[in-house]
Amino acid sequence: MNDVDFELDERFLKAFDSFRKGDLSHASEICEQILTNRPDCYNTLHLSGVIDYRLEDFEEAALKIFKAIQNDPQNAYFFYNLGLALKAQKKDEEAFNFFQNALALKSSQPDKKKNRKDQTKREGRLAAKAYRHSIESGQDPNYLAFHFHKEGQLEEAEYVYNQILIASPQNARIQNDLGNVLQEMGRMEEASVCFRKAMVANANLDQAPYNLANVLSELGQIDEAIKFYRCAIKISPHFFEAHFNLGLVFESLENLDLASDCYRQVIEINPNFSKAHYKMAGIFQQWERVDEALVEYQRAVELDPNYGEAQYYFADLVKSQGDLEKAVTLSSQAFLIGEGNNVSEGGVVLENFDKNGLKVEASKIEFLTSALTGKTPSTAPSDYVRNFFDEFSRRFERHLVENLQYKAPRLMRDTCDSILPNDCKFKNGVDLGCGTGLSGEAFISIVERLTGVDLSPNMIEKSKEKGIYDVLNECDILMFLTETKEAFDLFIAADVLIYLGDPIPLFEKIKKVAANEAIFVLSTESCDKGDYHIRQTGRYAHNKSFIEEAASGLGFELLLRKSAELRKEKEQWVDGDIFVFKIVN
Ligand SMILES: C[S@@+](CC[C@H](N)C(=O)[O-])C[C@H]1O[C@@H](n2cnc3c(N)ncnc32)[C@H](O)[C@@H]1O
Repeated sequence: MNDVDFELDERFLKAFDSFRKGDLSHASEICEQILTNRPDCYNTLHLSGVIDYRLEDFEEAALKIFKAIQNDPQNAYFFYNLGLALKAQKKDEEAFNFFQNALALKSSQPDKKKNRKDQTKREGRLAAKAYRHSIESGQDPNYLAFHFHKEGQLEEAEYVYNQILIASPQNARIQNDLGNVLQEMGRMEEASVCFRKAMVANANLDQAPYNLANVLSELGQIDEAIKFYRCAIKISPHFFEAHFNLGLVFESLENLDLASDCYRQVIEINPNFSKAHYKMAGIFQQWERVDEALVEYQRAVELDPNYGEAQYYFADLVKSQGDLEKAVTLSSQAFLIGEGNNVSEGGVVLENFDKNGLKVEASKIEFLTSALTGKTPSTAPSDYVRNFFDEFSRRFERHLVENLQYKAPRLMRDTCDSILPNDCKFKNGVDLGCGTGLSGEAFISIVERLTGVDLSPNMIEKSKEKGIYDVLNECDILMFLTETKEAFDLFIAADVLIYLGDPIPLFEKIKKVAANEAIFVLSTESCDKGDYHIRQTGRYAHNKSFIEEAASGLGFELLLRKSAELRKEKEQWVDGDIFVFKIVN
């Protein structure tokens, strides 16, 4: 560890910071300066290559990243990014080899975090020693703290920052940096104290109220968070990250107007900030302004071709507009990025993706792709369903009931009423895939006790607000039916077979927990050919004869089947079937 390294770290981080903020030319300038003196500095070579990639100079990108690999052949994401640069040059075979190398390297490397605890004590001692040494040899201890922080040696960084603050307690920047370290360690309250002290020490330090707002937002103190984001913006009106995070907070409050104002502001300040375009796209989608959403998604993935999450939702929207070919290409790109996401944490390319929270799961993309290409997996992957409905939960009812005129629950209840005695009352019902509770609402008046089951926590949260369920289980339906110790006399599955696919496991599990003469009422989307298949919408359709045969083979007696128009899709009614079975044990 010496001065040169600290200086290099400092400059590299500046380059990385500019890169993150979308200022590619400044980042590239710093990289060039570093490389003039240190042409073998692999991190800088790699970063410089990634910048070239973003600027679409794929050849230069590949050359630099290749050099980075020569100097550090163990870094999985160097290989991954080289793969991307080659793929962009249509050198698919070579690219594939590098992706494979990346995955092989990743799986052979131990998880750094796992060894952290054992190292911590030793590093704490080293920190103290290094600190003393740096003071004695006249080095700036700020660099030492900065270095520890950058390397993720947080206890050591905390130690050194505290030492510096003993000597100069009014140093706002160090208070702020210490706050960042504590925040990374999950010590939010202590972090917020540091940021407040930093604000008192220097009222013009925009980072302090910004960081404080981030912590408060994590602590759920939303009004306070808004206040401090605004405070940071007042100090630096062009602080686009503060505008962006303020937008996220408004979005979490479902205030899309204010959120979109913030994202627009971000785009005005930094038109290259892909996340703001992605967020705008999501809002346009919620407002059903599809054309504008497509433009924003397109912009987000152009600016950041590794933005898996944006690729994924872009693909989904493109698919819903019927452009299947483009959707397949986009979703396979998202799949590739999803694979890359497994390659390494904290890498340059992966940063944009990981921080957005939602990871593109390989299984989900595979499912989407099979929906597009007409293969039929036996069920939809639970991650896909959970994420989809978590995202959808806020606008589910408005969209389904108002826009798509969804009426399956009401039709199912009417179908039951037409054959069950007037005074019929069930003792213990279960709403399988209860969603926001529309199906529960339709049946609550004829059931004494109702349990809801759903995979999606956000849908469950919405159904809780209805106050009709005695118990709500955030759980997979088949898992619930396997593990429950209860017997039920009413089973409801409204618009759920469309995600479950193969109905036989469901029938088998229901049979095991059904009271004698229990009723099972379900809806399906209809098809005439085969048993069941996945439609290009990503939902399953079932042949009514198949459902009836499968059910009767397991002892379900069909009381009534009705054809029904369940909901609209692109202005057309979706044809479905409603079945009422009696389960005779
Ligand atoms: C289209 S919604 C229907 C919701 C409700 N039954 C209604 O009629 O309004 C489908 C629901 O089923 C849930 N779901 C799908 N597959 C599931 C599974 N395997 N386990 C639990 N819930 C599932 C989804 O999370 C979603 O909330």
